[in-house]
Amino acid sequence: MSASARLRNVPFFDYPAVFAASERDFVGIFQDVCRRGAFIKQRDLAEFERDLSVFLGARHVLGVGNATDGLHFALRAAGVGPGDEVIFCSHTMLATASAIHFAGATPVPVECGPDHLISAEAVEDAVTPRTRAIMPTQLNGRTADMRALQAISDRHGLLIVEDAAQALGSRFCNRPAGTFGIAGVFSFYPAKVLGCFGDGGAIVTGDQVTFERAASLCDFGRNTAGDVVRWGLNSRLDNLQAAILDFQLKKYDSVMCRRRHLASLYTQRLHEVPEVALPPGPDSDPDHFDIYQNYEIEAERRDELKQYLKEHGTGTLIQWGGQAVHQCNALGFTQNLPYTDWLFTRLLMLPMNMSLSDDDLHYVCDQIRTFYGHSRE
Ligand SMILES: Cc1ncc(COP(=O)(O)O)c(C=O)c1O
Repeated sequence: MSASARLRNVPFFDYPAVFAASERDFVGIFQDVCRRGAFIKQRDLAEFERDLSVFLGARHVLGVGNATDGLHFALRAAGVGPGDEVIFCSHTMLATASAIHFAGATPVPVECGPDHLISAEAVEDAVTPRTRAIMPTQLNGRTADMRALQAISDRHGLLIVEDAAQALGSRFCNRPAGTFGIAGVFSFYPAKVLGCFGDGGAIVTGDQVTFERAASLCDFGRNTAGDVVRWGLNSRLDNLQAAILDFQLKKYDSVMCRRRHLASLYTQRLHEVPEVALPPGPDSDPDHFDIYQNYEIEAERRDELKQYLKEHGTGTLIQWGGQAVHQCNALGFTQNLPYTDWLFTRLLMLPMNMSLSDDDLHYVCDQIRTFYGHSRE
């Protein structure tokens, strides 16, 4: 029996392993921040915002409490509000639509394309005189075709606000996700490629006015001088999380590299399995640099495969609990999106994380091949 044929435990994501990987460093950061009593809006936050802006080549970065708030603030800061429609892809987290709703605008879900990202054709078809913005989700660590979306935005005078929660470091035509429109937003939820030990997020913008408005919205409506300039909320990235993120950011290039390596191994092992459709491989298209926040495949007999993998020790996940946003009946969407409906009977995320060894990945692929009756070669 080969090493990869023995039963293994391959969790979908191993949260304690993230801490264990650099435990001494994390404890050191915790002690340093706590001994300084530096919890809210202190130098660690400023340093992280500066380092992230350098990493992205972006003018302004604003740490916020989470990406959901960040998206809400970014929309409001960019001037989106009541009476406006915002087009987004239904294959996204509810957070995208919630942010539009709480900004006072109407969320308009559309179909994705075969790479699971927003379809430019669908966006074009959904534009009405009330459309104010397009909000592409840069899903699974891949940036949408921003050339096509930019053309639509130019043609109709629309804003672009990117939900880049899953895409820090991903690029399209060498430009980083989050930097295409008036603003972009990242999430640092613990399972994100750049994750903290709780909730966290950041807004990125090149626009001074949007930055200043967003900065006050997340700080009780106050400006940097402490004067109240509008109604606001409290949603700041806390200092301890910022210090942890800044430490993680320093290793980010090697993290992206490792994930791209794992993705290329999945491609090698599974591309000839006709029952599954894989995400584009890391070097399949020179326009895209993908960072594989998730490795989301399409699978025939998806639920049976999931169960089989579970019985063989492999954790998988169906994104968004298996519901696209327009399928959430309680929210009253009326759009008919048959491609997304069909896709959601097939989607499955395989393990993709920094604890996954090459052997683990081969084991997962062996199980998938066996399930469909193919040899392990
Ligand atoms: C595409 C997308 N948008 C928004 C969010 C919300 O991020 P947060 O949990 O930081 O609010 C997430 C988080 O999973 C996400 O994946």
